[in-house]
Amino acid sequence: MNPYEFIEANHNQFLEDLKDWLRIPSISTLSEHNADVRKAADWIKAHLDSIGLTRTEIFETPGHPLVYGEWLGAGNAPTVLIYGHYDVQPADDDEGLWQSDPFEPVVRDGNLYARGATDDKGQTFTQVKAIHSLLQSGQMPVNVKFILEGEEESGSNHIHTFVNEHPDLLATDVVVVSDTSFHAPDQPSIVYGLRGITYLEIEVRGPAQDLHSGMYGGIVHNPAQALVEILAALHDADGRVTVPGFYDKVRPLATDERAELAKTPFPPERLERETGLKTPWGEPGYELHERLGARPTLEINGIIGGRTGEGAKTVLPARALAKVSCRLVPDQDPKEIEALIAQHVASITPETVTSEVRVLHRGKWAIVEQDSPFMQAAARAFELGFGKRPVFTREGGSIPIVGTFQDQLNAPVILMGFGLPDDNLHGPNEKYALENFRKGMQTAIRFYEGISTLK
Ligand code: BES
Ligand code: ZN
Repeated sequence: MNPYEFIEANHNQFLEDLKDWLRIPSISTLSEHNADVRKAADWIKAHLDSIGLTRTEIFETPGHPLVYGEWLGAGNAPTVLIYGHYDVQPADDDEGLWQSDPFEPVVRDGNLYARGATDDKGQTFTQVKAIHSLLQSGQMPVNVKFILEGEEESGSNHIHTFVNEHPDLLATDVVVVSDTSFHAPDQPSIVYGLRGITYLEIEVRGPAQDLHSGMYGGIVHNPAQALVEILAALHDADGRVTVPGFYDKVRPLATDERAELAKTPFPPERLERETGLKTPWGEPGYELHERLGARPTLEINGIIGGRTGEGAKTVLPARALAKVSCRLVPDQDPKEIEALIAQHVASITPETVTSEVRVLHRGKWAIVEQDSPFMQAAARAFELGFGKRPVFTREGGSIPIVGTFQDQLNAPVILMGFGLPDDNLHGPNEKYALENFRKGMQTAIRFYEGISTLK
């Protein structure tokens, strides 16, 4: 059967298989789910075996395992390395917003709802089934390798070393990643820019133990207060980051790139629709899409300290902690930014307390080449698969391994995303449009057929 017929004939089975994978709560940030992360790795390894790959393997890391698979029977045709991640974000539902169990996938109104439906099991599975459909047709146009990660959502701490240490295993002509979203529901997008990240904890300590706030309040600097004083000093009143040197390496947008990006703006109505907010905030002098795609940020992700449980307790806490992360852009270096923040925090920490800055994870930003022949083939594939030429956009999110692939594999990366802007990745009611699942497979197949002679 030709691959397109195979997709149509087996769509229900594909969907049922994807649902099985989605039922495994492979939440990489929560250690209580370590066994589930492994189960999800085993599941996809077995699935890769079942579609006719000739070698599959689980590679252990100090963290969650990597799943590798290959089929190299296309001789001199190009080799494609497909990256995806099988871990997912937590799906806490304190506010009761999920309309169905995040780990019991259901289809409603043409969408598949589940944690990981789009990010990234659904999109990864789109690639897996495109390859399955090509393999069974006996007309496989390219050599293919899969490398599937189980720690993307928790910072990709171990895949970088693996990539550095396995240049031959991962050698490829092009890297394909399906883990991004369209610009609009009817407007496919090839993402050419991702922000980098550095994730920190800032801890402030004062007295040796928690104190009675009546007996010591007024003579001891409260660490929770000192922490928020430090945090408040990290931005100015306009929203610019005040850490000295923070913007020094930021590459300004070239005039033509700025004009090109202005064609895909982030309209304020979209902010209101997606977040309920009428008033945007942020660095002056830049449009919203520029702040997201081309400007760095420093965010407070959470603050912990003192009494936060039920009822009142007159305590002066011994310590307080903030989780802080920066989104980084060309040409900022995560390690340099970490050092700048550590220095600055040390310099503004009053002598009444002590502070410590710890790094949890980091990842480089990425800008991918826009005019390689592979990119042209990808644009053409979207046109055939979705009936519309893709736009090229920069995204604010991060996929930490992409920069390392560029540096180590010396191959172009194609961010062939099939998500929609309202898929609620990381949020309640995450979904994947079945139409994008189907057309995504068609697009991927078109792409592999289109590049078979590029080498
Ligand atoms: N799929 C996202 C990345 C993404 C989101 C790309 C939106 C484009 C648009 C990915 O799974 C993700 O969420 N990455 C994390 C990485 C972090 C934990 C290092 C992110 O960006 O927060
Ligand atoms: Zn993702």
